[in-house]
Amino acid sequence: MKFFIDTANIDQIKDAASLGILDGVTTNPSLISKENKPLNKILKEICEIVDGPVSAEVVATESDTMIKEGKKLAKIHPNIVVKLPTTREGIKACVALVREGIHTNMTLVFSATQALIVAKAGASFVSPFVGRLDDIAQDGMELIRDIVQIYDNYEFGTQVLVASVRHPIHLVQSALMGAHVATIPYEVIGKLLNHPLTDAGLEKFLSDWQKTGQKI
Ligand code: G3P
Repeated sequence: MKFFIDTANIDQIKDAASLGILDGVTTNPSLISKENKPLNKILKEICEIVDGPVSAEVVATESDTMIKEGKKLAKIHPNIVVKLPTTREGIKACVALVREGIHTNMTLVFSATQALIVAKAGASFVSPFVGRLDDIAQDGMELIRDIVQIYDNYEFGTQVLVASVRHPIHLVQSALMGAHVATIPYEVIGKLLNHPLTDAGLEKFLSDWQKTGQKI
């Protein structure tokens, strides 16, 4: 399973990358707006830190302009993946960009039918938003189960990228269901390794070792 970080914050990306297990980055217009820096500068910096797919989202809503924006974004770095909303216009833009050899990530996916069309459009990634479904009392993880099953049935090449992850349980369930990727907020990455028994166990090992008076 690949781990992406869901942020445009350079310090957070550097810190997560230092773990050595980061496979990519996803951004969106809301995340970019928090950084107070030009989009191109942020994307270039991210691509220098992480050697993997970096999603950058268009802001147009009409396919012709989405295609133009997508091409501009793709020129910034070979690792840029153009993120498009899963609307009729977004799908048209996706098909056109894929034909030009540009990788796409279809975002704001909330149904299995949207995900099926995304795969048929040839996108590299589909981004179902689990947390936002949970927010409206629908089980976001049920959608992941359905999409993984549908993609397996037809051996679609599109990777299931679990987005809107809110807590470590989303990660565990995504891995059990066989999702290819999860994009994880910085705060959640911090929680993935924590366990009080690990801390207590280490403390005991070290205090026992100290009693031996030895050095390694
Ligand atoms: O990047 C898209 C997605 O992960 C947003 O998450 O928490 O704003 O629903 P959230």
